[in-house]
Amino acid sequence: MKITVIGSGYVGLVSGICFAKLGHEVVCVDKDASKISGLQSGLIPIFEPGLKEMLDEVVAANKISFTLDLKSALQDSIAVFIAVGTPQDEDGSADLSHVLAAAKEIAEFSTSYKLIVTKSTVPAGTGYKVKKLVRTTNPDLDFAVASNPEFLREGAAIEDFMNPDRIVVGVEDEKSREIFAEIYAQFPSQKLIVTDIITAELIKYAANSFLATKISFINEMADLCEAVGGNIKQLSYAMGLDDRIGAKFLNPGPGFGGSCFPKDILAILNFAQEAQVKLSLISSVVDSNNVRKNSMINKIAKVLDNDLVGKKIALFGLAFKGNTDDIRYSPAIHIAKELAKKGAKIAAHDFEAIENSKRELGEFSNIEFFQDLYQAAQNADAIVIATEWKEYQKIDLSKITTKKFIDLRNLFDAKTMRELGFEYHFVGGK
Ligand SMILES: NC(=O)c1ccc[n+]([C@@H]2O[C@H](COP(=O)([O-])OP(=O)(O)OC[C@H]3O[C@@H](n4cnc5c(N)ncnc54)[C@H](O)[C@@H]3O)[C@@H](O)[C@H]2O)c1
Repeated sequence: MKITVIGSGYVGLVSGICFAKLGHEVVCVDKDASKISGLQSGLIPIFEPGLKEMLDEVVAANKISFTLDLKSALQDSIAVFIAVGTPQDEDGSADLSHVLAAAKEIAEFSTSYKLIVTKSTVPAGTGYKVKKLVRTTNPDLDFAVASNPEFLREGAAIEDFMNPDRIVVGVEDEKSREIFAEIYAQFPSQKLIVTDIITAELIKYAANSFLATKISFINEMADLCEAVGGNIKQLSYAMGLDDRIGAKFLNPGPGFGGSCFPKDILAILNFAQEAQVKLSLISSVVDSNNVRKNSMINKIAKVLDNDLVGKKIALFGLAFKGNTDDIRYSPAIHIAKELAKKGAKIAAHDFEAIENSKRELGEFSNIEFFQDLYQAAQNADAIVIATEWKEYQKIDLSKITTKKFIDLRNLFDAKTMRELGFEYHFVGGK
């Protein structure tokens, strides 16, 4: 099937390349000319493991192309996926301007039947807004709208897309359902969960809110462990063995960040409020996560005798999680900024996110960036692990002379670290 994907960011690009891998003929569109010209030359604008290799494969098979020209991209395509950003607006709501702009353009440039699918995370009811807009823009167009929210995780995006737990599609008619059945024909049919459009839109927010709640829950348990003398690692392990709870998302840390959870939980609160529904549990997750960010700063300051001025801190990790270069709402970036504002000298390291971080942290003259983590650690008063890159577990600790080691991701074993002579601090225990 010929598929058009609008937006070639983390979701649009991965989806487009994976649709091509599934055998479809894909045209990816973006407004960003440098992104498109890079992609036309085989350059991937983001760090995502395995994506470059898969791109090369589908380009060689002639299954994918990239363009700025939506009109030509729409020709002969049946399904059009909108995968543009839905960033947080000033009042916490999801900014739908990019989604609606894309929908309007689809309406203007389409001359044959289109299934217009929102893959972007959008508030309940957006599908109907898209439908109304398309109908008023081009009353003659034969089309249907649908929702197909994306659940991929950055860093494991290909695995998630090609091996999904479920594929949720919200449709209004049988033809739309059949088109999705064809698009996802390579997956077992029971993976395809077909709902109405509003339910599909809600499933995405419910899933992200639940996961954010799980993280905040374990973070609060970590605080309790620290206060009363428990050990969060053993607590999480034992809790996770209960099938009803599950082991994932039970690792405490510096709070959740990233391009999805922070904005999505504010957006669900916003549209629930408009519908006069009070989501008090999700509301308290927002509060808990905000408190968390600052309590991490206090934790670091305490190890440095509450005197940060002039202290050199080697900050290991800037991305919001391991295996990505994405720094949107990254707790590590928040930590870097706050420590720098308090007068510390930051020697920041990351495996992939340095370039993005330079743009965000450029105003701070007391933040330096290092490609080599051992150089970052040289003469540091403390090392802070802020991102769970697994590669940090492979550090040659014999090359590290700094004794104060603050592990906000619990990547190391406390007993081993202390036997090696480190003053080791972690989250959720002594
Ligand atoms: N990043 C994730 O892990 C993830 C996971 C699941 C869902 N989502 C959701 O998917 C959506 C996209 O997220 P992302 O992280 O890929 O965003 P992104 O910012 O990485 O990419 C969005 C792209 O859309 C392009 N764009 C914007 N308006 C356009 C237009 N009118 N025409 C063509 N291109 C246009 C931008 O130039 C950009 O390249 C969001 O709603 C997000 O919440 C993201």
